[in-house]
Amino acid sequence: MCVLLLLFQLMMILLSSPINVVLVESVLTTAKPGCPTSCGQIAIPFPFGIGSNCYLDPWYAVNCSSNKPFLLSFNLEVLDISIEEGTMRVSHSVLTACNKTYYDGEDIYMESVNMENSPFFFSQTMNIFSGLGCDNVASLFYYDSFITGCYSSCQASGDKRETIGCYGIKCCQTRMPYSLQVFNASVGPVNYDKPKETTDCKKAILVQESWLPGLTGNHTETAYAMLSHAERVPVVLDWGIRSDSSFNWDMNDRHHSDCANISSSMDDRFAIDNMSSSTIGIQVRQCMCSRGFEGNPYLNPGCQGICSGFIFLLLLIGAWRLHIIMKRRKDIKLKDKYFKRNGGLLLQQQLTSSYGNVDRSKLFNSKELDKATDHFNVNRILGQGGQGTVYKGMLANGKIIAVKKSKAIDEGKIEEFINEVAILSQINHRNVVKLLGCCLETEVPLLVYEFIPNGSLFQYLHDQTEDLPFTWEMRLQIAAEVAGALSYLHSAASLPIYHRDIKSANILLDEKYRAKAADFGTSRSISFDQTHVTTKVQGTFGYLDPEYFQSSQFTDKSDVYSFGVVLVELLTGQKPISSSTTQDMCRSLATIFLSMLDNNLFDILDPEVIKGKNEEIMIVANLAKRCLNLNGKNRPPMKEVAMVLEGIQASKKESNVQQNREEVEYVRTEVIEHWDILIK
Ligand SMILES: *[C@@H]1O[C@H](CO)[C@@H](O)[C@H](O)[C@H]1NC(C)=O
Ligand SMILES: *[C@@H]1O[C@H](CO)[C@@H](O)[C@H](O)[C@H]1NC(C)=O
Ligand SMILES: *[C@@H]1O[C@H](CO)[C@@H](O)[C@H](O)[C@H]1NC(C)=O
Ligand SMILES: *[C@@H]1O[C@H](CO)[C@@H](O)[C@H](O)[C@H]1NC(C)=O
Ligand SMILES: *[C@@H]1O[C@H](CO)[C@@H](O)[C@H](O)[C@H]1NC(C)=O
Ligand SMILES: *[C@@H]1O[C@H](CO)[C@@H](O)[C@H](O)[C@H]1NC(C)=O
Ligand SMILES: *[C@@H]1O[C@H](CO)[C@@H](O)[C@H](O)[C@H]1NC(C)=O
Repeated sequence: MCVLLLLFQLMMILLSSPINVVLVESVLTTAKPGCPTSCGQIAIPFPFGIGSNCYLDPWYAVNCSSNKPFLLSFNLEVLDISIEEGTMRVSHSVLTACNKTYYDGEDIYMESVNMENSPFFFSQTMNIFSGLGCDNVASLFYYDSFITGCYSSCQASGDKRETIGCYGIKCCQTRMPYSLQVFNASVGPVNYDKPKETTDCKKAILVQESWLPGLTGNHTETAYAMLSHAERVPVVLDWGIRSDSSFNWDMNDRHHSDCANISSSMDDRFAIDNMSSSTIGIQVRQCMCSRGFEGNPYLNPGCQGICSGFIFLLLLIGAWRLHIIMKRRKDIKLKDKYFKRNGGLLLQQQLTSSYGNVDRSKLFNSKELDKATDHFNVNRILGQGGQGTVYKGMLANGKIIAVKKSKAIDEGKIEEFINEVAILSQINHRNVVKLLGCCLETEVPLLVYEFIPNGSLFQYLHDQTEDLPFTWEMRLQIAAEVAGALSYLHSAASLPIYHRDIKSANILLDEKYRAKAADFGTSRSISFDQTHVTTKVQGTFGYLDPEYFQSSQFTDKSDVYSFGVVLVELLTGQKPISSSTTQDMCRSLATIFLSMLDNNLFDILDPEVIKGKNEEIMIVANLAKRCLNLNGKNRPPMKEVAMVLEGIQASKKESNVQQNREEVEYVRTEVIEHWDILIK
């Protein structure tokens, strides 16, 4: 039974949902219904109570105004109350007398709290009476009757025995023979016929025996040390209900409890005269739940069978299981709902009907991606942007991926989103980051991309820490690659796809410094709203087409403008919005570039760029100028931009062929590779 009870209580601690807490309270609470159950951390069971309708009679009134319970009848601080034991612990003062002069027959004394006629007794079994000091007789009196006492001697020099216990040297202890409701404690030296001066502290203390450290076990303090510091100590009181009180015994759960009279028992066992007659006559009844029950015997129903507790436990376990099953079902339903809302069915249909190649776009499940990104751990964040957060992850097969968690999706745009996911998953261009798939079971769609290891062009240009110079040739190659990819997507794909957020930060570099346009087209599908609201124009300041900014009409030429800014970034090595050029605070890099282009272009070019061929630089600078034309119609289409850049590269290679005839073989393979790109 005990084991079951333990299990039961363990379950109570483990189960923490609000419903269960209510159940637990209704079972274990022992206060009067509707009354405060505790004060601070201390439970206040009936017949005790906080507030006039909550206690049985004023003996049991508890004041909790400072969040510490005080027994109002004696103004004693309550440390705890036990229904099972019929006891309570209170904090009681000790008698201390230091540097006193003692006269014959006039020992120093102190009266305890006087609980005569109350239902409370100083417990005989759980307290111990202790005396402290050198040459001290500590005594306990009940009016004129000596009840008990002990003597502590002085300590011989070098004697360390006081540290082991409380057995006569500077510390003594003894038991009370009876439970008392009041007593006098006294201290004084032994055998003196003339006034005796002392220079130590003598003490007489009634204290909870188990509060003191025993002789066994490891204690940091000895009983002597603890008692000599203490001004107040815990004392155990036995309590019950006076049989002549107003208590309606019908309120007592007598079917499941056993009651007995408790008293000081002095009158029975010892014939001591001159006791206060009221104390002798007092009868206090104490009840406890019968074996196998627990609760409060002073309430009805009060004592609960532990077996019913066991059944309750089984019920709880059952309820818990049910709760888990329901939660799992709910989770599955929710995933299904998200999948449908996120256009999962549409996507499945599109992938199987219009495109034969289904396995290229993969539907990932949410668990897989959760595991891959370590529950979307913040340490895995690669970047954060307007459209969402990108996490680095590793699939079970070891493939490194980048997972983009979109911002919440607007339901109206789902079809568009699905279209683009479907289209993007078909794109297999060497200079576009590959979309591996997506996950639609989550509240917001997750997009899964291949992982590009070497950061973005922006980082490479502006946060450059490597020694490797970023040569004109590398810049030209990156520009040509990005232009090629954009051109392909503007015209070669079955539906034109606009990037809408071309910037160096969206151009990723692989380990061979090949460019990969990232975030392609999906930005539009995820949260873009191009039809009505001008304030919702998307893009990055510094790269944004001014015409689009005014009309909120995005065209292929808007991408061309942004690409023009990237070209200028490559040429000058400066950020599109620079905080360092103080005199040009309000002007963007594009404006500065255009104003310097005709007269002092070389002042603004990056030192690495100037090392390149002048005529090439001029072609690219003029191309940038055309891309940055304020009128979109006058900007070249992306296809033309790509052709110009590829043309420079091709002529470079031809001239190389002429210059280095020995390297013909090497260059031929390069040209073939180059043609491969063009064919693709
Ligand atoms: C409870 O204690 C507080 C502070 O000690 C005191 O102000 C208040 O009067 C007490 N309440 C009662 C009912 O005695
Ligand atoms: C008792 O007297 C001694 C010296 O005689 C002094 O050091 C000590 O502080 C005194 N104790 C108290 C409690 O007055
Ligand atoms: C304690 O001693 C004082 C003085 O001798 C006496 O008046 C009082 O009644 C005593 N109380 C008890 C409980 O012995
Ligand atoms: C008591 O404590 C001491 C040191 O703190 C340690 O060495 C010793 O093993 C302990 N004894 C027991 C019984 O724990
Ligand atoms: C307890 O006290 C009541 C009232 O004085 C008395 O009627 C009853 O017999 C007593 N019970 C026991 C077990 O002594
Ligand atoms: C009890 O006290 C009375 C006076 O209060 C006294 O006369 C009587 O002798 C005392 N009885 C004993 C046995 O001491
Ligand atoms: C880029 O890749 C090269 C070689 O793969 C490596 O040495 C370099 O540290 C990488 N740079 C960055 C910025 O990751």
